[in-house]
Amino acid sequence: MSEVKQPFRAAVVGAGGIARGNHLPALRAEGDRVEVVALVDINTELLSAAAEQFGVPGRYTDLYQMLQAEAPDMVVVCTPPVAHRDAVVASLDAGAWVWCEKPPALSLAEYDEMSSHERADGPYACYVFQQRFGSGAQRLRRHVTEGTLGRPLIGICNTLWYRDGKYFEVPWRGRWDTEGGGPTMGHGIHQMDLLVSVLGDWREVTAEMSTAARDVETEDVSCAIVRFESGAVVSVTNSLLSPRETSYLRFDFDDATVELEHLYGYDNSCWKWTAAPHRLDPDQSPAWQPEQDLASSHRAQLSSLLDSMERGERPLASGRDGRRVLELIAGMYKSAITRRTVKRTDINRIDPFYRSMKGGTMTPDAPFEYASVEGALHA
Ligand SMILES: NC(=O)c1ccc[n+]([C@@H]2O[C@H](COP(=O)([O-])OP(=O)(O)OC[C@H]3O[C@@H](n4cnc5c(N)ncnc54)[C@H](O)[C@@H]3O)[C@@H](O)[C@H]2O)c1
Repeated sequence: MSEVKQPFRAAVVGAGGIARGNHLPALRAEGDRVEVVALVDINTELLSAAAEQFGVPGRYTDLYQMLQAEAPDMVVVCTPPVAHRDAVVASLDAGAWVWCEKPPALSLAEYDEMSSHERADGPYACYVFQQRFGSGAQRLRRHVTEGTLGRPLIGICNTLWYRDGKYFEVPWRGRWDTEGGGPTMGHGIHQMDLLVSVLGDWREVTAEMSTAARDVETEDVSCAIVRFESGAVVSVTNSLLSPRETSYLRFDFDDATVELEHLYGYDNSCWKWTAAPHRLDPDQSPAWQPEQDLASSHRAQLSSLLDSMERGERPLASGRDGRRVLELIAGMYKSAITRRTVKRTDINRIDPFYRSMKGGTMTPDAPFEYASVEGALHA
């Protein structure tokens, strides 16, 4: 990998809510390590307002012009999901590292296409999964790797959020062709990514979903039972219809229950560790609490990404590591739509759910349409 020198020159594509609320403040907080040299947005008013607010000199309405003129070291993609693929591919081709918002892509096929534009020694594309990066999650993963909690046996992964009708007035939301799915794809993805980052690959999934209350094409609730390769079984619920909102994960191991409850971000105080009765003796109990208190946040992931850039190493939440949660989501949609249990290995490159999360042609009249393999291949 050709060496990338600090300060890294960053460009942000898409100057909407997440760029202004999270990415630009996180980039600014990195001080001398990174400099935002350009912003891109097709909406000139939003572009100027964000550029003024954050003092960004380069202002573009065209991504390709920006890449040519600025040759940034990294590009942060904050556009709606439908525009992720083109921005990631163009940025990698221009030699920039990429940090792209969730969901990474509209399908596994798009994800693989983006990955194919990485080079063996970089640049790489990684994706925003900020819930992995707090100290509580890091500590739990270390325990699981070291086997200090015994076997994972059973778990819960709930994203119970509330979004009213107004939320869906933003044109790209609630549509298969622009958002790629409902709360399974767009919201629960945070908790499910944390789940698979702790428990690893899943083996099979049985799911249900429905559009229960909102005027959207996609589901607004989904549930699943997921069996992992380890044998652990986890129930997953994703909802945008839950007035008492919570993000809740629970892992029961042989030796402890580990719980996390928060809404959009956690610190150590949101974690609860309960020892099994046979581990209550303090001499027998490992130190379960994290050594530091790092909140989950865009800033925590950015800092890890900049470390990887400095070392020229593949960052976390890229390649197979970033794909894992998308595989689970594709499995959930396939199971809910076909009303069958789905194995992870079922979704190969000729499976209709590889090419689209709803498995077939996307038409507003048939939101949950399922195309046969033959139909999809000839569509
Ligand atoms: N990680 C999180 O916690 C989190 C939270 C909210 C949103 N998101 C994700 O962030 C992304 C953006 O969400 P948002 O809420 O900021 O949306 P938004 O609609 O507020 O902003 C998107 C911006 O992208 C611009 N845009 C659209 N197409 C473009 C293109 N081709 N080139 C350049 N600019 C373009 C729009 O004009 C708009 O300003 C989505 O992928 C969303 O899922 C992540």
